[in-house]
Amino acid sequence: MRVLVTGGAGYIGSVVTELLAESGHSVAVFDDLRYGHREAVHPSATLIAGDLLDAPALDSAFQSGGFEAVVHLAAESKVEESVRDPSLFYEVNARGTVNLLDAMARHGARKIVFSSTASVYGEPEATPIHEGFPIQPINPYGASKHLCERLLRLASHAGLQHVSLRYFNACGASTRYGEWREKETHIIPILFDAVQGRRASFTLFGDDYPTADGTCVRDYIHVLDIAQAHIHALAGLGDLPSAVYNVGVGRGYSNREVIESVRRVSGMPLDYAVGPRRSGDPAALIADASKIRNELGWQPQFQDLDSMVRSAWQWRLRFPNGYASS
Ligand SMILES: NC(=O)c1ccc[n+]([C@@H]2O[C@H](COP(=O)([O-])OP(=O)(O)OC[C@H]3O[C@@H](n4cnc5c(N)ncnc54)[C@H](O)[C@@H]3O)[C@@H](O)[C@H]2O)c1
Repeated sequence: MRVLVTGGAGYIGSVVTELLAESGHSVAVFDDLRYGHREAVHPSATLIAGDLLDAPALDSAFQSGGFEAVVHLAAESKVEESVRDPSLFYEVNARGTVNLLDAMARHGARKIVFSSTASVYGEPEATPIHEGFPIQPINPYGASKHLCERLLRLASHAGLQHVSLRYFNACGASTRYGEWREKETHIIPILFDAVQGRRASFTLFGDDYPTADGTCVRDYIHVLDIAQAHIHALAGLGDLPSAVYNVGVGRGYSNREVIESVRRVSGMPLDYAVGPRRSGDPAALIADASKIRNELGWQPQFQDLDSMVRSAWQWRLRFPNGYASS
């Protein structure tokens, strides 16, 4: 299939592009490289440097690419920043998705797999969370992603086939591509920075949450397993109805457990301080991912945290300075 991957130069998009290319799809990446890296784009994929807010650039990409399907990952995604600057998130995530859907309609592309998030559930009343739980985001990031899901549902009346994948916490790396951002907000790469002396200290955001050890609990899912979910979703789009799926392992790890895992895997000492809570962070997010297992036959290959942290650490050791353009 001819597939356009928006955000394919970013962390998850680079691995999605890698798996799509290696599964025999013809792939182009649409990314303005604001957070992504040219070197993270698989060599067999074409990079189209463009902004989702630039409708003519999208049009010309579809004109030349003749895409049948889109995997839409490009977005603003830092929760804390969404609390500070909500309009940026509605603009890039919602307006950008409208532009993309318009271009798809104009050029006859009818299939889309969308990167949604566990943040749409907000502070859930119970865990594990299944797809029927109430949608009540507690930050503009989650709200903007839910808006996109609704835009896809509306577009289905005009023939769009769509799958929204609500990922939980992505982590890990493939052999080639890993997580590398200029301003990192994710706990595992931040802990790596701390053990490697790239940052002076590590501060845990809050230890007074209603969880077993007082720190936030998250369901970590390996980026290769997320990428594989896209392969399954694209294949399913031909025959199955449009759908929303959680993508997680179904097991939660607390921030303190993540710290212990990084200590074990890296074999390095790691001191940390405890600070106040970060705004917009729910206490615990754990997926019930039985729907995607049952309907698409997807199974996560990485189940325990140490194996996920190890793959990220190995990538970090292979590429100690990240991507050349960073
Ligand atoms: N990382 C996670 O744990 C996680 C969890 C749930 C959902 N998601 C979602 O998955 C997707 C990918 O996340 P990621 O962690 O790889 O983020 P990332 O920032 O590494 O990748 C996003 C990519 O989109 C590009 N981009 C952003 N705005 C753009 C625009 N206006 N036009 C063109 N390109 C643009 C960036 O340059 C970047 O390469 C996002 O939609 C995010 O919301 C991520």
